Amino acid sequence: MTTMVEVKQLTKRFKSITAVNDISFKVERGEVLGFLGPNGAGKSTTMKMITGFLSPDKGSVFIQGKDCDQHPITAKRTIGYLPEGAPLYGDMTPRLFLEFVGKIRGIPNTEIDQRLADVIDKVNLESVLDQSIDTLSKGFKRRVGLAQAILHDPDVLILDEPTDGLDPNQKHEVRNLISDMAQQKAIILSTHILEEVDAVCTRAIIIADGKVVADGKPGELQAQSPWHNAVVLSIRAASENGISGTLAALDNVEEVQPLSNQAGVIQFLVRPKDGTSIIENVSASAHQHGWLVEEMHVEQGRLDEVFREVTNFQRS
Ligand SMILES: Nc1ncnc2c1ncn2[C@@H]1O[C@H](COP(=O)(O)OP(=O)(O)OP(=O)(O)O)[C@@H](O)[C@H]1O
Ligand SMILES: [Mg+2]
Repeated sequence: MTTMVEVKQLTKRFKSITAVNDISFKVERGEVLGFLGPNGAGKSTTMKMITGFLSPDKGSVFIQGKDCDQHPITAKRTIGYLPEGAPLYGDMTPRLFLEFVGKIRGIPNTEIDQRLADVIDKVNLESVLDQSIDTLSKGFKRRVGLAQAILHDPDVLILDEPTDGLDPNQKHEVRNLISDMAQQKAIILSTHILEEVDAVCTRAIIIADGKVVADGKPGELQAQSPWHNAVVLSIRAASENGISGTLAALDNVEEVQPLSNQAGVIQFLVRPKDGTSIIENVSASAHQHGWLVEEMHVEQGRLDEVFREVTNFQRS
């Protein structure tokens, strides 16, 4: 694997606020790294420093091994950046804007038409190409921003909330586009949509108060959830009748919680100690007691629980 982006001890202060506080990480080719974190955590500020829009107070950014401070032009050539919001030239049409970006990116005249056609197709801009950007809906502005970020086919993509404001179909399309590009590039994206992490990210970093508080594959982060390997069990029964007690007495069971009781079906959550697998014990017990099991599944863990835990921890 090739290290495409390396961030070393980045720090940025705005007066009394430390927006980014000693953040370090690496991103390899083929990785899609998701930045998660509460509002104001420092995600956009970190992205602005990687792309050279802000200079850090401390620390360095290396793109393909080269220090961006010493090789700013090479770094900018290698990076495509979709900033927060939609900082576009509003009186231009998407067609003129993308032609302009193509020129300043130095795309040769012989290639520009093909490149434009490609990105216009990829982000579905055909229907609004000749309408001024100011008059476009939020989602279309976002798509123009995405088109300019990928126009020069950069090796590194930094996308600040790429699916913000998109309708569900477009969210799906953009996630597919990101996944399709992932093999050839290193991609960093920020998002508040936790399911997006599962859908497109190979790894996620949770940032809170300017610090990295978790870093791992989505499955590894989910495994930190108190729900990881919990069994959800629905039993047809007239009453609870000791079921909770029986489940709670099983090996490696930490806690049993009744979740609902509707139309004669009682649902329980059986949480394991230390994320141990308990499905076999629960299943054997159900069989042994002749319970009428309507549904049973194992929880992978909940990223939102992990998110809440690691970000609240920072604030307390
Ligand atoms: N130019 C600036 N001047 C002063 N403070 C700033 C500036 N830019 C960012 N900040 C502050 O830095 C902190 C981090 O902001 P940042 O935009 O990086 O957060 P974020 O994680 O992207 O949040 P969000 O999820 O809301 O986009 C916030 O407290 C913000 O108010
Ligand atoms: Mg932001």
